[in-house]
Amino acid sequence: MLTIEDAFKKFKSRLELNEKEEENASARHTEVREHMDKKFNSRSFLTGSYARWTKTKPLKDIDIFFELKESEKDYRKKDPSVILDAFYNHLAAKYTDKAVKKDGRCVTVDFGTVVDEDDNTNYKVVSIDAVPAFPCDGNYEIPDEDLGIWIKTNPDVHKEKAIAAHQAYSSEWKGIVRMLKYWNNNKKHGDERPINPSFLIEVMALDCLYGGWQGQFDREMQSIFPTFADRIFEDWPDPAGLGPPVSDGMDRAQKQRAKELLLEAGKEANAAIDHVRKGRNVEALKAWRELFGPKFPLS
Ligand SMILES: Nc1ncnc2c1ncn2[C@@H]1O[C@H](COP(=O)(O)OP(=O)(O)O)[C@@H](O)[C@H]1O
Ligand SMILES: [Mg+2]
Repeated sequence: MLTIEDAFKKFKSRLELNEKEEENASARHTEVREHMDKKFNSRSFLTGSYARWTKTKPLKDIDIFFELKESEKDYRKKDPSVILDAFYNHLAAKYTDKAVKKDGRCVTVDFGTVVDEDDNTNYKVVSIDAVPAFPCDGNYEIPDEDLGIWIKTNPDVHKEKAIAAHQAYSSEWKGIVRMLKYWNNNKKHGDERPINPSFLIEVMALDCLYGGWQGQFDREMQSIFPTFADRIFEDWPDPAGLGPPVSDGMDRAQKQRAKELLLEAGKEANAAIDHVRKGRNVEALKAWRELFGPKFPLS
């Protein structure tokens, strides 16, 4: 019989990046970079939650920063939409209009990877986000089409903060962040994820997980969901103090919905823990799977 703690450990490892996935991500990076090199003078690197090990499964929207060289500087003088359009057109020429999408700060390339009902992809990456970036005083400037400005960011600072939080939490912080993001992606929430962007989960977790790891995943979850619910209406600035507030991605109604779904998750966690207390282990496993989704194991 699978104990709840072992189920969480299995769940955690299922959300970890493995070697085959890293190989696929690296191959896709090379493929996209080689195509981008035909038009843009840049150097590129995998970054964002993928590089911090805080991305959940399936692997979607892996960020690739294209650090543009001095010879591309004209783009920086123009509206953010200009470089995004240029990225879009060049990527669509290879991957087609159907597979390429313009987002506010990047261009997404979808590789047509099939995600099965258990959220498995045969170790393949679903999509990448190509982000144009200009170096600026030790940071980067990236286009934000919705704001109509270039915003500052520093992925190295985000990485350092994640490492520090992970260490302060007995190396369980990143696993918990991946689990929370997996809950956020659960299909039962419909087309709109409760928390958007998912980076907000990570930013909130920097503050909301404190006092150290208490030794049990179920207990951690039982307290995290209501804590997030309590604090979802707060302003959450960029942890590096450079970009716009990360909490600007949701309006009041969306935050209210997130709050309700987080409270709901807290209640589901209580019920799952109660099942164990009453000797109903199978029901407890089912309750956690219902809460998180198919990667939470039943056996
Ligand atoms: N509001 C912001 N200000 C500054 N940097 C940001 C902001 N939002 C996101 N970033 C940075 O850009 C990266 C890519 O953003 P995104 O794809 O939304 O997040 P993630 O990598 O968590 O999926 C983030 O990992 C973070 O380093
Ligand atoms: Mg992204």
